[in-house]
Amino acid sequence: MKRLFFYLFCFVIALSADAQNSPVLVAGNIKTVNIEKQKITFQTDHAYGEITIFSPSIIRVRLDKKILGNDFSYAVVMPPQQTKCSIKQDDKKITILTDSLSTTISKKPFAITFYTLDGKVINEDEKGLQHSWVAEEATAYKHMQEAERFIGLGEKTGNLDRRGNGYTNWNYDAFGYSTGQDPLYSSIPFYIGIHHGLNYGIFLDNTYQTDFNFGASNNRFSSFSAQGGELNYYFIYHKKLADIIGSYTTLTGRMKMPPLWSLGYQQNRYSYYPETEVMRIAQTLREKKIPADGITLDIHYMDQYKLFTWDKTRFGDPLAMNKKLNAMGLRTTVIVDPGIKVEKGYDAYEDGVKKGVFVKYPDSSDFTAQVWPGWCHFPDFTAVKGRDWWKEKISFFSNTGVDGIWNDMNEIASWGQKMPSNIIFNYDGALASHKQAHNVYGMQMARASFEGAIAATHKRPFNLTRAGYAGLQRYTAIWTGDNRSEEDHMLLGVRLMSSLGVSGVAFTGMDIGGFTGNPSVSLYARWIQIGAFNPYFRNHTAVNTKSSEPWSYGEEVTEISRNYINLRYHLLPYLYATFNEAVNKGLPVVRSLAIDYTFEPKVYNTQFQNQFLFGQAFLVAPFESTKDFGNIYFPQGRWYNLYNDEQEQGDTEKIIRLNLHKLPVFVKESSIVPMQSLVQTTAEKPTDTLVIHIYKGELNNSFNYYEDDGESYNYEKGDFYKRNIIYDAVKKQIVFDKVEGSFKSKFTKLKVVFHGFTAIDKINAGKTLKDDFLSFLNPISRFDPQGTASPIEGCKVKSVILENISTRFEIKY
Ligand code: NOJ
Repeated sequence: MKRLFFYLFCFVIALSADAQNSPVLVAGNIKTVNIEKQKITFQTDHAYGEITIFSPSIIRVRLDKKILGNDFSYAVVMPPQQTKCSIKQDDKKITILTDSLSTTISKKPFAITFYTLDGKVINEDEKGLQHSWVAEEATAYKHMQEAERFIGLGEKTGNLDRRGNGYTNWNYDAFGYSTGQDPLYSSIPFYIGIHHGLNYGIFLDNTYQTDFNFGASNNRFSSFSAQGGELNYYFIYHKKLADIIGSYTTLTGRMKMPPLWSLGYQQNRYSYYPETEVMRIAQTLREKKIPADGITLDIHYMDQYKLFTWDKTRFGDPLAMNKKLNAMGLRTTVIVDPGIKVEKGYDAYEDGVKKGVFVKYPDSSDFTAQVWPGWCHFPDFTAVKGRDWWKEKISFFSNTGVDGIWNDMNEIASWGQKMPSNIIFNYDGALASHKQAHNVYGMQMARASFEGAIAATHKRPFNLTRAGYAGLQRYTAIWTGDNRSEEDHMLLGVRLMSSLGVSGVAFTGMDIGGFTGNPSVSLYARWIQIGAFNPYFRNHTAVNTKSSEPWSYGEEVTEISRNYINLRYHLLPYLYATFNEAVNKGLPVVRSLAIDYTFEPKVYNTQFQNQFLFGQAFLVAPFESTKDFGNIYFPQGRWYNLYNDEQEQGDTEKIIRLNLHKLPVFVKESSIVPMQSLVQTTAEKPTDTLVIHIYKGELNNSFNYYEDDGESYNYEKGDFYKRNIIYDAVKKQIVFDKVEGSFKSKFTKLKVVFHGFTAIDKINAGKTLKDDFLSFLNPISRFDPQGTASPIEGCKVKSVILENISTRFEIKY
């Protein structure tokens, strides 16, 4: 017996010695707990933790193997909200209850499970693995639920449903990337898990390299890791996926209204120069009646790629040129790179060195790497001093008549692509190595450009970035970098924008036509059609490629391009209001079908995953330009063909014949779509009539029509024009609610166009309208991108013109 005890004793000793020698450090059991209002602090065998109730739907978890450090975030702007909750504990567990979810923290070992209020598991730590460290890498392991799907994570290649794959966040200059490449330029460590009719979001707020595993090389768990720092994540639960995006964007902030001109068509190339070439492009756009609002200048506008300079031989008087462009209704955007050329006598270099704004080696010498100008130093945008320096410098551009800033190469990109780890960044006072600061550098550069441009002009700037981190939407739009002129890149671009959209970024774009290589004629045509439904509508191509202006691919393609750019301009009132939804609710403009139709499995089918909603009304189905037929999935509800009003019943697939002249686009039943007359630029006033298309349906719906001056932030002080238009399918009425805000609409008349209605009973618009208005219901032509203008015989589309009165009125049908 004694011998048995002895052996048992030796076995236990051996086991614990093994645990001590294990290369994996687990958090272990909770030893002490302290509960204070909405916060629980605790210590486990090997870790320190904190759990905070941020709102009824958001729980924050912090865990580190050392005492928790300074609580600072570049992403999160919302402090914990005072929340009604109860926290209870016994020997085994701690239970948190809010109005939205219940959270159980097991003590032995430390493990978290999130439940719905009726007890369904939303998300739980993987038993046996939970939380652990391998050297400095911290990981949380979550049990992979049966048939669980994963979407989001920002700018990530691959399928909409990310299950079975792993991803890395490390901002990377991915020139001509392949369609499966990872990582790309920006890092948004936020994803949404979907299973058993439930959905939740997890945001890992850590700027080190982070890695996500959604069942790659394993069938047991999904996990997220950080190469350094804390495991610091926010768990978000709502019944509706759109509300998860809403909560994520209250945490990380929302965009401000963009300048109206930035929603118009933008003509780019690497690079338009000299001035005569820029003016030729501008004049051709106008002569060929291709509406446009912007021309973008790439690196060749600078003197030897030196920031804050103009090449005086190419652009003798930039201010005068930009004024000429403005007079033509075009705004100029210029590229800026972070690299400041090391050159004696160059002002930005001398001044930057003198003021100590560049990132440094530990021996205090400035870090030097090569980019376009040759050897460069790089401002520390994670320092207040560095940002302030840049903000002041950036006024150079508004002084020379520039309206848009395009922040490029800010991963940081450099020749060699191997920035040393020992570069020191200020990290807003905390001091951080390159490892910690890398992923946030680009976002902080974009922030400095944005804040600098506002300080200089007191107007909304257009600001674009290539690299970024969670929360970038507060400062900037983003585009998906150096794609290729290939069919699958066009479709990948759509998915990248969809994924950025569920990850809180509404203002997104891709290089239409592709950056590297030359597209086929048909690919160019299809791409520009899709581009008309991109939030940021930009055509761009690399140096030494074929010209990529809409007239470069022959008459037919010029016509197709013009038709779709025209459509974009007709749709500006709808698009502007959709951007306002991004400002108020965090909802994207390009909406993955997973947002509204989360639990319809076909949405994730790879043959349908490129379909998206443009705002709330339009279903866009992009296909390769080489295909003659396409299979479309219509989610639940009824859908109108945009071009002929034919209706499709939802929850079905349908094979349609494709036609290069028409991108398949459908309108959801009960939609409300405001449109305007054609203009060549947003600087031109449309006619006095706002055309509101209403599509008959069985769904209740509402649309928040929105206008403001399009250029200032006065809307934040109430200077806007807002009107809720409600489609009530039960009462069979459309209500134009009373107008809110002090801004005067640019439209004095409303033309209401009825799609799918057989008769209108009554328009009750106060004293200004009489019943005999109904006899003015006119048949109108259907939208035809090929330009037929005459009314179509027997068409069921009718319209009525009303005065744009500001009081509430109803249309009964
Ligand atoms: C890289 C950017 O991604 C591309 O759009 C730009 O044209 C080149 N840099 C040159 O500035």
